[in-house]
Amino acid sequence: MDYPKPLFVHVLIFPLPLQGPVNCMLKLAELLCLADFHVTFLNTDHIHHRLLRYTDVQSRFTRYPKFRFEAISDGLSEDHPRSGDRFVEMFDAMEAVTYPLFTEMVTSGDLSSSSDRPVTCIIADGIFSFAVDVAQKIGIPLLYFDTISPCGLWTYLCVPKLIQAKELPFKGDDLDAKITCVPGMEGFLRRRDLPSFCRSSDLTEPVIQLILKENHELPKAQGLILNTFEELEGSLLSHMGTLCPNLYPIGPLHTHLNTRLCPKLASKPPTFSNSLWEEDKSCMVWLDQQPLKSVIYVSIGSLAVMTKDQLMEFWYGLVNSGKRFLWVRRPGSIAGDCSESQIPTELLQGTRERGCIVGWVPQEEVLAHPAIGGFLTHSGWNSTLESIVAGVPMICWPYFVDQQVNSRFVGEVWKLGLDMKDTCDRVIIEKTIRDLIDERKDELMARADLMSKLARESVNEGGSSFCNLERLIEGIRVMSL
Ligand code: UDX
Repeated sequence: MDYPKPLFVHVLIFPLPLQGPVNCMLKLAELLCLADFHVTFLNTDHIHHRLLRYTDVQSRFTRYPKFRFEAISDGLSEDHPRSGDRFVEMFDAMEAVTYPLFTEMVTSGDLSSSSDRPVTCIIADGIFSFAVDVAQKIGIPLLYFDTISPCGLWTYLCVPKLIQAKELPFKGDDLDAKITCVPGMEGFLRRRDLPSFCRSSDLTEPVIQLILKENHELPKAQGLILNTFEELEGSLLSHMGTLCPNLYPIGPLHTHLNTRLCPKLASKPPTFSNSLWEEDKSCMVWLDQQPLKSVIYVSIGSLAVMTKDQLMEFWYGLVNSGKRFLWVRRPGSIAGDCSESQIPTELLQGTRERGCIVGWVPQEEVLAHPAIGGFLTHSGWNSTLESIVAGVPMICWPYFVDQQVNSRFVGEVWKLGLDMKDTCDRVIIEKTIRDLIDERKDELMARADLMSKLARESVNEGGSSFCNLERLIEGIRVMSL
């Protein structure tokens, strides 16, 4: 790709310090490096150490001499779990500690001296409301990048409307009651499909206040970058455009980057990793020995935590389905102690025969493996997009935030899988797996193939996300002048 010579464009990228957002912002960073921009990628110390420990990211980016990493404190102690229910504590800590440090870092010119070039544009996660102030202080443009799903984000943006229409807080406990005032979702959105925090009866809760603050600041940015493609969420994007006019849907980012780096190999998974845990590649050898589309891949992402009872229901469901399974059990993802001596023999036996359990995998590679026939997922947005690109139908077991909305879209709107939210029962799990791999295989595979094709086309030259990325690059260049 030939871009005109940049006029001193220096973009500062600041992701939310979690696996999904960091992964996807690193991909955006690389795309901006390919446009010959100066890019500074700001991680929290915690994330930065883990990236250096488990990946070759430092050496990988040396091919871009105008790229550099910087790090900043997230305000939490090193041994804080940063997952499960305690994940929200990070927001308070960042507001108290990271915000002033970030302000000082950007306004003092320290970042500029380290790159011989002043920062001309900030790209920050949409949840960082404070970025508006910082960008205004030094008079540079700010673009927000919301790495959650746009369908989820649209429900966040409609929270004030839901409160005004008295649809929030819920009256009564019927979670199947329909929600009527989220434009574009009338008819299929139920209370149970709203983001998890909407189930609270207390609207003064910190998470809700955080979302309301985000809603307020988001339209103040010069633009909003989204990891989606128009063919998937086009109609919602037009609704969202009424609040945030300058939208850049440039996803799926992982495919976009692969396509730009190596167009002929775009359908192949990447060979590099942005993992915050050590990848166990032995599962790829195991997958090589399994029949075509026979394996159900199970992962609940980087934050969700299962109780021991839920673990047992899933385990029985998987083993009793008689299907093969590859199961990621991230360190710390099971609450409490669960040693092998407490596990019934039939589960251990079934796992030895048909299962493979590992701590963390190269997920994009796993999803692209021909042996994978389905993905039992927590419906995190990155996992959902990766599954869509790979053409793998999903079973959704959403945990929190946008995941409840994502799973409704997967099951009811896009028809790419089966939504299993709010249940955790071995009999239902067993049946849903059989439905996905056997009974409803053909209809779901046909939809998954179609959407995968549309996703890939969107990042090819002339495709919707391709053109939106060109527009973003040009926009940053013009705004930076
Ligand atoms: C968080 C939120 O919970 C989610 O709802 C939001 O959409 C994004 O941020 P997270 O748990 O990080 O989600 O899930 P997800 O967005 O799916 O990201 C997980 C990332 O980890 C994916 O990119 C996936 O490829 C990667 N992963 C996961 C691995 O590389 N290996 C694994 O074994 C599991």
